[in-house]
Amino acid sequence: MLFLNTLARAGMGANLVKMTGVALFAAMFATSVWAEKPAVAPAPNGITLPEGYKDWRVISVAHRTDNNTMRAIVGNDIAMEAARKGQTKPWPDGAILGKLVWKAETDANWPTATVPGKFVHAEFMIKEAKKYEATGGWGFARWLGEEQKPFGTDAGFVQGCFACHTPVKGNDYVFTQPAKLP
Ligand code: HEC
Repeated sequence: MLFLNTLARAGMGANLVKMTGVALFAAMFATSVWAEKPAVAPAPNGITLPEGYKDWRVISVAHRTDNNTMRAIVGNDIAMEAARKGQTKPWPDGAILGKLVWKAETDANWPTATVPGKFVHAEFMIKEAKKYEATGGWGFARWLGEEQKPFGTDAGFVQGCFACHTPVKGNDYVFTQPAKLP
């Protein structure tokens, strides 16, 4: 709008300004339709990418030094409420934990700061005690890279997830402890 005002002040006719506005709006609309991403395919076990996960709140963060990645562990509203109340043994049905992973990079403006770079994957644990009884009450799913390619060739991929999470069975199969807050 500042741009249009400037044009108006520069002595452009009001109609021309209006037309420019309409053209700009049309261009913006066309771009947004054009830029819409294709739907993300479900994981091989049928789990679909949880809606709205990019707006979930942070439970904790982690930095893995073996593969140099940074992680944000996030939760949906049910998970957040349980985390805040310390009701995580077990986590309630409907709770979803997400882990968003990035390659760790050095901040271009501050060499001692480590910041998230390339996006590696997003993965989720969905609590439905009955439905996912065979895997500790959790449904597992992961999507790779920015293209969000479902991980795993068949539904058996969850055995890998479950096996590695089994050492923390006493913590309802969850490694993350909610980060301390004042
Ligand atoms: C080699 C071991 C290993 C495997 C395999 C594994 N995880 Fe994990 N997972 C971890 C560890 C360790 C953490 C906690 C530290 C971190 O954030 O990386 C974790 C954390 C998570 C979290 C955050 C909640 C929590 O438990 O702290 C989710 C969600 C998750 N994993 C999903 C999955 C899914 C889905 C798969 C399979 C596609 C999977 N994991 C496979 C080791 C593993």
